[in-house]
Amino acid sequence: MRITKHIKSLKGYIHGDQPSGRGIIKINTNENAYPPSPKCAEALKKFDVNSLRLYPNAECTKLRMAIAKLHKTTPEHVFVGNGSDEILSLSAKAFVEDNESIGSLDPSYSLYNTLADIRGVNWKGSPEDKPLSLAKDTSLFLWTNPNAPTGSFTSPEVIRAFAAAYPGILIVDEAYADFAPTNCMHLATANKNKNIIVMRTFSKSYSLAGMRVGYCVGPTELIAALMKIKDSYNVDAIAQEVALAAIKDQRWMENNAKKIIETREYFSEELSKRKWEVIPSSANFVFAKPPKGIKAEDVFEHLKTRNIFVRHFKTPNTRRYIRFSIGTRSEMNKTLSAIDKYN
Ligand SMILES: Cc1ncc(COP(=O)(O)O)c(C=O)c1O
Repeated sequence: MRITKHIKSLKGYIHGDQPSGRGIIKINTNENAYPPSPKCAEALKKFDVNSLRLYPNAECTKLRMAIAKLHKTTPEHVFVGNGSDEILSLSAKAFVEDNESIGSLDPSYSLYNTLADIRGVNWKGSPEDKPLSLAKDTSLFLWTNPNAPTGSFTSPEVIRAFAAAYPGILIVDEAYADFAPTNCMHLATANKNKNIIVMRTFSKSYSLAGMRVGYCVGPTELIAALMKIKDSYNVDAIAQEVALAAIKDQRWMENNAKKIIETREYFSEELSKRKWEVIPSSANFVFAKPPKGIKAEDVFEHLKTRNIFVRHFKTPNTRRYIRFSIGTRSEMNKTLSAIDKYN
């Protein structure tokens, strides 16, 4: 058996634990605490299993039309992927030459450097306060906004100014935009911005992480490049129908997002009262540092023994923090009680 040297040397992406079982509080991978729209269940019920004989619609025609309508653009500006992770992976192929680099904020979504590794190119991380100076030598910049794992938000004006000065392609990864005060979608639909793609996912605000559907909106030439290199049938037939039902029920999604935002504010305040240093979040998670003398890693382990799964990243600029995805109010109260027992 022969595996290429490059692949042999890769570490690969480390995803959060996916524990299952009764009584578990799973607030470690930013999934939604609430179920998807009942319209999704209806779409599943109506789905004709016999139609699975046939390949799905390769262009996701109906779903792209619905996405285009939502964002007031046309389907040629929309690409649908098997989760937004697939779009990131295709972008690393389509927009980066072998001798070029991929940039992102640091810290940011930890998949980005793994993707650069897989693609065999360098990754360059820039601090949130001076992304342009360090991004100059990159040809693709992945800007998560709100950022993960910090939850901090950068205004569309700052991002627009970055894109105007940036010679490469900018993908604004808006996985968490529905929990933020505003977003950058208008930058992707404005014809004059030739280097901006905005990416969204059904995994967070639409509560469909198990479905694997993400999309991006951008200039037609960039969208056409992604279409050219995708797997022929990258989004399965069931996923297309269910995502379509979800996007048509904006009210359901917005209502869930509202509850999560309220719980996020409550939980942040409660942590602050307990002397945790909390980074103000515009996402469905909170990144916070325990009080002096308490190690984040120890709190992580303590919570795990109580069946509460949170996320701890071991890199130097994140290891003092814990990331809590926002669950229901009751789950967050139980988490606070467990923290109190540690203190
Ligand atoms: C910033 C960011 N982008 C993209 C994704 C992946 O989304 P998807 O489930 O659509 O692949 C995640 C998932 O956690 C994320 O945090």
